[in-house]
Amino acid sequence: MSSPVSYALHDTVGVITIDNPPVNALSQAVRAGIVDALEQAASDSSEAVVIACAGRTFIAGADITEFGRPPQEPFLPFLLDQLEQHPKLTVAAIHGTALGGGLETALACNYRMALSSAKVGLPEVKLGLLPGAGGTQRLPRVAGAQAAITMIGSGDPVSASKALAWSVIDRVVNDDLLTEAISWAKELVASGAPQRKACDETFTLSDDDRQLIETTRQALNKKTRGEFAPQRALDCIVAAAELDFKAGLKRERELFIECMSNPQAAAMQHMFFAEREAAKVDGLDRNTPKVTIQKVGIIGAGTMGGGIAMCFAQAGMHVTLLDRDEDAVAQGIARIEKNYAISVKRGRLTDDQVSAIMGNITPATDYQALADADLVIEAVFENLAIKQDVFRTLDGICKDGAILATNTSYQDVNAIAAVTQRPEWVLGMHFFSPANVMRLLEVVRGEKSNDTVIATAMAVAKTIGKTPVLAGVCYGFIGNRMLQPYFRETSLCLIEGATPAQIDGAMERWGMAMGPLAVGDLAGLDIGYKAREQLSDAEKGNPASYLVADRLVEAGRLGQKSGAGYYRYDPETRARLDDPDVMAIVEATSAELGITRRAISDEEIVDRLTLALANEGARILEEGIAQRASDIDVVYIYGYGFPRFKGGPMHNAEARGIAEVVARINEFAETLSAENWQPSQLLLDLAASGGKLRDVKAH
Ligand code: 3HC
Ligand code: NAI
Repeated sequence: MSSPVSYALHDTVGVITIDNPPVNALSQAVRAGIVDALEQAASDSSEAVVIACAGRTFIAGADITEFGRPPQEPFLPFLLDQLEQHPKLTVAAIHGTALGGGLETALACNYRMALSSAKVGLPEVKLGLLPGAGGTQRLPRVAGAQAAITMIGSGDPVSASKALAWSVIDRVVNDDLLTEAISWAKELVASGAPQRKACDETFTLSDDDRQLIETTRQALNKKTRGEFAPQRALDCIVAAAELDFKAGLKRERELFIECMSNPQAAAMQHMFFAEREAAKVDGLDRNTPKVTIQKVGIIGAGTMGGGIAMCFAQAGMHVTLLDRDEDAVAQGIARIEKNYAISVKRGRLTDDQVSAIMGNITPATDYQALADADLVIEAVFENLAIKQDVFRTLDGICKDGAILATNTSYQDVNAIAAVTQRPEWVLGMHFFSPANVMRLLEVVRGEKSNDTVIATAMAVAKTIGKTPVLAGVCYGFIGNRMLQPYFRETSLCLIEGATPAQIDGAMERWGMAMGPLAVGDLAGLDIGYKAREQLSDAEKGNPASYLVADRLVEAGRLGQKSGAGYYRYDPETRARLDDPDVMAIVEATSAELGITRRAISDEEIVDRLTLALANEGARILEEGIAQRASDIDVVYIYGYGFPRFKGGPMHNAEARGIAEVVARINEFAETLSAENWQPSQLLLDLAASGGKLRDVKAH
């Protein structure tokens, strides 16, 4: 097999070119190729060496697919030591993104040049790791404390101009990178420039720097709550100041291995690939034609319609926002303006940017305004008859080839499509609230939706910055369907003995962004109440799973919007406060239902809630509603505040062991409720065969 690394002399400069598509990751073959090329350059007539990459980017890091397998020599730290100690002057020529091991490679060169469009970063913390090939020791020595703390702590890449200002790189050029790098290498040699080595630089931390580390630690404790790697990454920067280079490298390696052995790393790497996989639709031809989306109609200027309009308008598309009358649409526009005023106040957007975005939104009350829309998204009240009326109207007005989408949370997309003469152009596009913020988009394929409709929806999701996941039609699709058993177990834990603070506290300490009862208060308890009003007693199920919520609503406690729900909310700070009145309602309801309250452990709460999700997720997979287990993980991480470092409910179950999960579910079936805790057939089959959720493909 030919090497992904080639070496050629360009006059007096040896050029090492890495060509390992798609992102020039440092696979074993690349590492070996670079070692060989460095050896060649050491003994030929070259006076300097340039490291450059073919294709769309400089090295984007270690090859993540190799993690978790036995490491193979040559190891990256060894290679970078060879590079740093190379007898010839070395220059990195960076285009695209130099990330992780890629930037570490550049930092081991004597000089760094980048295209102005390039970005550089050390994103390892996002994979549950820290830079493990000298990045935490070389970057502070090259660029100082602020750059190192910011880049290593956050993992966010920085632009070439920022990197230049911080001295991470030395020169920026606009084009002809390789030619420029070669001639610069010659110049450096000719001028007798020294072979600068990061390892020889000294690095100290001033009092201000130490203060910055402390404030960064606190900020990261909030932002990356529960994550193992970020604090260790900062420890390495402290080590860079306190230890010599060699000892610092040793410390970095120890902490890198600690991170790599922590289950969080596997979970976060799983999410890296899960996110990318989610965008792919099995069986869909890559060349499926897509509709070009320029004009978007949105029906319903309420909470969701307004947020959805913002997404498309921000992406530069023309949006017509329609509601029933002038008042309703004006209110919708005013709500959008209010949102943007906050963004301006926070410095996220300028007045000019907001004017440009608002210029993309045209209010309307007449459906005729949607006649030439390429895509129409309906976000009216959650009622099948109303939605069907809207689709009948759209069918009569919209041009051929327009895509008609519903943002329904629970209604049957097929029943909505069926009222039109073009059900193949109908699908669900289920956004999450607030729609302008939440990254998840469930793309719901109706039984007749055609391939163009699905391919276009997946593509346009990316254009507006969403992470799309394909779902089939069922009550609640993927995410909301799984919420049902999750909320059922929440309510049961409450009525059997736990308090709201205990349930939410247990889930939040475990890693959820917000506990389930606090989520209920945020969304509004009246929503579920109104939905239950439409159901028969049999459909509502066991009263223990909803009676407390009903009583809270009947007592005027609708959640945050009324100042009280499962908690009371401080009118000033909006902090949630325990409320004895709630416990009085809970205890009275337990007594009325003949339930003897008992102590429930945090572990039981977490197991009941997370396994309820995994069991329903397995059913969803079994039924082909989701394409793959990892898609379900993406839904929960981007739509429901599930912690990324646990990898989603399905990865979490897999990491725990499917046999153990089934055993715990069976235990709950015996001790709690056989009806609620039937293990899904898929979990039973996998437990018996030793198979993996990650290998299950929906048909
Ligand atoms: N290893 C293996 N595969 C990788 C990879 C990596 N480091 N980075 C990207 N890929 C794969 C993706 O999985 C995807 O594969 P697919 O086409 O089969 O789905 C393909 O490359 C293209 O990736 P994207 O779809 O993400 O392409 P974009 O153009 O949108 O983004 C990118 C390119 C900015 C480089 C982005 O892929 C990225 O951020 N990659 C990860 C960078 C990273 O985290 N590097 C650090 C690795 S850890 C490390 O270096 C440890 C060291 O300190 C020892
Ligand atoms: P909302 O009540 O805030 O807004 C609905 C809007 O639709 C109102 O402005 C109303 O005037 C308008 N409307 C009603 N009938 C209409 C018609 N025939 N023609 C034109 N406009 C009409 O409701 P919300 O919360 O925005 O929900 C809309 C849809 O989005 C529902 O299907 C809901 O299930 C779904 N959804 C809601 C989420 C949420 O968290 N609020 C999350 C995801 C989906």
